[in-house]
Amino acid sequence: MNRGVCWLDGKLLPLDQACLPVLDHGLLYGDGVFEGIRFYAGVPFLLREHLRRLRHSGHVIALDIPWEDDQLAEITMSVVDAFEGEDGYIRMIVTRGDGPLGIDPAPCSSPRLIVIASDLEMVNHAARGEGVRLITAATRRLPPDGLDPRIKSLNYLNHILARIEANRAGADEAVLLNAQGRVAEGTADNLFVVREGRLLTPPVIDGALPGITRALILQLADEMGIEACEQSLAPYDLHTADECFLTGTGAELIPVRDIDGRAMKTCPGPVFQCCNQAFRQAIRRHCGGETR
Ligand SMILES: Cc1ncc(COP(=O)(O)O)c(C=O)c1O
Repeated sequence: MNRGVCWLDGKLLPLDQACLPVLDHGLLYGDGVFEGIRFYAGVPFLLREHLRRLRHSGHVIALDIPWEDDQLAEITMSVVDAFEGEDGYIRMIVTRGDGPLGIDPAPCSSPRLIVIASDLEMVNHAARGEGVRLITAATRRLPPDGLDPRIKSLNYLNHILARIEANRAGADEAVLLNAQGRVAEGTADNLFVVREGRLLTPPVIDGALPGITRALILQLADEMGIEACEQSLAPYDLHTADECFLTGTGAELIPVRDIDGRAMKTCPGPVFQCCNQAFRQAIRRHCGGETR
C-alpha cells in the first residue's frame, strides 16, 4: 500500500483507510474530474493553474464544484502538512457523488471531493537518467467531437489501453495518435520534439491535454531564446527528431531514447537539458528548497 494521507468527506485519513461508497458515480461511470499537482518543499506548484483547469473541466461536464478556491487551497495544504515528506504528489478529485444505479447524474446532489497526498514515480530513476522507450499505440486518442481533450475527466480507458500496449511491447510509455494519425500526446504526459533547433509540441486541437507543464516549458523556452511552438506532428516527425521528451506534473521532464525502436539522435539532448534546468529553477523560485 502506498504511504499517504487523504481528505475525504471532511476527514483527514491515512490513505489505506480512505474508502469510497460503491454508489459514487465517479466509480460507477468515471463521472468526475481531477487534477494532479506536485508539491516541493511543502509548497504546491502552480496550484492556481491546476484549480483553474479543474474548474473548467467541472463546468464543461456540468459538475458543480461548491468549494471555493481558497477552501480547496486550504484543504490541499492540510493534506500536504499531514504527509510525511517535503515533496510529493496531490491527486484532487471531484466526483458526481452518490446516486442510484443508472447513468443519469441528475439524482446525484452532492459532489464528492477527494484530496490525496502520496508519492508518485512515473518511471524509475535509471530510466529517467538514460531516457525512456516509447511506442506508438494502435489505440487512438478519442476525437475531440466525442470528448474534448481539455476536459481532465476520470475516463482514462483509451489511455490505459495504450499503456497496456506499451507494457506488452516492453516499452515505458505509449504515444497516442488522433483519428487522423497525427501525434496527440502520451498516456499521462505531453510530448515535445526538437527538430532543426526548434522545440515543437502537438496543438491541443490534435488531441493534447493543455498541460500545465507543457505551457511552462513553452514559456521557459521562449525566455531562453529557444524557438518553440505548437505544430502538428506525424510519426515520421517523431522518428526523425533530434530529441524528444515528455512533460507532465507526474512525469516532470523525461527524456526519450527511442520511439518504435528508432533511436533519437541525442538523449538526453541539449535542449532537454536546458529546459530541465530551467524547470528546476522555476520550481525553486516558486517553492524554495532543493529539487532533484
Ligand atoms: C492525458 C494527459 N496529458 C498530459 C498531461 C500533463 O499535464 P500537466 O502538465 O498539466 O500535468 C497529463 C497529466 O495530467 C495527462 O493526464
